[in-house]
Amino acid sequence: MLSTKMYKTIFILCLSFFAVLAKHEFYDGHTLYNIVVKDVQQAELVNELGYQIPIDIWTYAKPGQPGQILVSKEDKQQFLDALHDAGVAYSILTENIRESLELEEERLAAAAKQKNERSTFGLDFETIHRYEVVDAYLEELGTRFPHYVRVESAGRSVQGRDIKYLKISTSHFQNDTKPVVMLQSLLHAREWITLPSTLYAIEKLVIDVTERDLVDNIDWIIMPIVNPDGYEWSHTDTRFWRKNRRVGLLPGDTCVGVDLNRNFDAFWGTASSSNVCSDTYHGPSAFSEPETINIREILRPYMSRLALYIDIHSHGSMILYGFGNGQLPPNGLILHVVGVAMAQAIDEVKWAEKPNYVVGNIVAILYRASGGSSDWAQLAGASLAYTYELPSYRGQSGLNGFLVDPDFIEQAAYETWEGLKAGARQAATAFYRQIAEK
Ligand SMILES: *[C@@H]1O[C@H](CO)[C@@H](O)[C@H](O)[C@H]1NC(C)=O
Ligand SMILES: [Zn+2]
Repeated sequence: MLSTKMYKTIFILCLSFFAVLAKHEFYDGHTLYNIVVKDVQQAELVNELGYQIPIDIWTYAKPGQPGQILVSKEDKQQFLDALHDAGVAYSILTENIRESLELEEERLAAAAKQKNERSTFGLDFETIHRYEVVDAYLEELGTRFPHYVRVESAGRSVQGRDIKYLKISTSHFQNDTKPVVMLQSLLHAREWITLPSTLYAIEKLVIDVTERDLVDNIDWIIMPIVNPDGYEWSHTDTRFWRKNRRVGLLPGDTCVGVDLNRNFDAFWGTASSSNVCSDTYHGPSAFSEPETINIREILRPYMSRLALYIDIHSHGSMILYGFGNGQLPPNGLILHVVGVAMAQAIDEVKWAEKPNYVVGNIVAILYRASGGSSDWAQLAGASLAYTYELPSYRGQSGLNGFLVDPDFIEQAAYETWEGLKAGARQAATAFYRQIAEK
């Protein structure tokens, strides 16, 4: 006979089992397709399907380079019919992606359980920390290091979360002959591996300072979680959520969220989706969202000395610069040279099995895109603005590229910091040279 206590244990075990199942239920039956296009016409046709059917384009198909598209159970038939009509070839990469998500969750939970308590103050790099943990950490940094760390609130998210960021400066930003460097992560909710990279930068600028020049010569603004609502949603409900959590866009809230990286005022609406249900929906107008307004407002006082702006995304091992309409900024050559310096710094310490970073204009390397944050920063006055795409999960380019390998968290954070440092130093040197010439 089982004791009452054992019944209780079994009951609780069953409950937690079903909680996990329910959590990734959204993705039950979602299939990841590999799309092979023969020519540019087919490629454009497939990419435009994204404006008609709420499919999730992970990688854009080009002739000679297959694309990956995630499609829900409900939209599968319409999607496949369109491919058949156009004669586009495809194959199935993952029949039901819910299974991959359950595996990631188990591995991260196991890593979190195994970790040793840190002997010094700080957040560990063994797991991916949630909003509340990061928020409390930022507050604590402000309390512990009042001489050069200020915790500021940028404002509230759509759902009312306080969006905090750090200002790290030996002069509390009062010395305006110093360059400003801005780093941000998690503009896109599902790109979890980007969070440790901004947390690592904070660690090396505040807690474990080994390179003094970075603190003495530069004023830093770091916002680890730009899109907290989307980020939390990607933990609690929909792992591959990308947008913010704006509601009220359609009656009955059939579709939710604005793609924040299409919402900035940079060629807004020219290469993004006007379909609310799309993952690249650009919002009702440029800067319609509090999360993008925040970035604009916190940088406003510092635009004239914003030497470097970096928006960290994943995945693909890329350092991208503007513009998303294919035009090069006037300082395109310098953008490229500094981009290459950052990429080389990362490549020197990266894991051998990871690909080298690729550097270039976003359209040349990836795709056309309007309303991007780094394009806006470049246009608004930043000397150098970039989007990083951190390496993918185990070199995979499809859906799995967004997953997190617990073993890679610290390495991703460390190697990205090598690139950020190289960029910050070059940007600062150029900034001081300009001041000297004036
Ligand atoms: C402001 O910063 C510059 C560059 O680091 C430094 O040379 C200068 O002494 C600083 N000014 C003040 C008033 O601290
Ligand atoms: Zn992204």
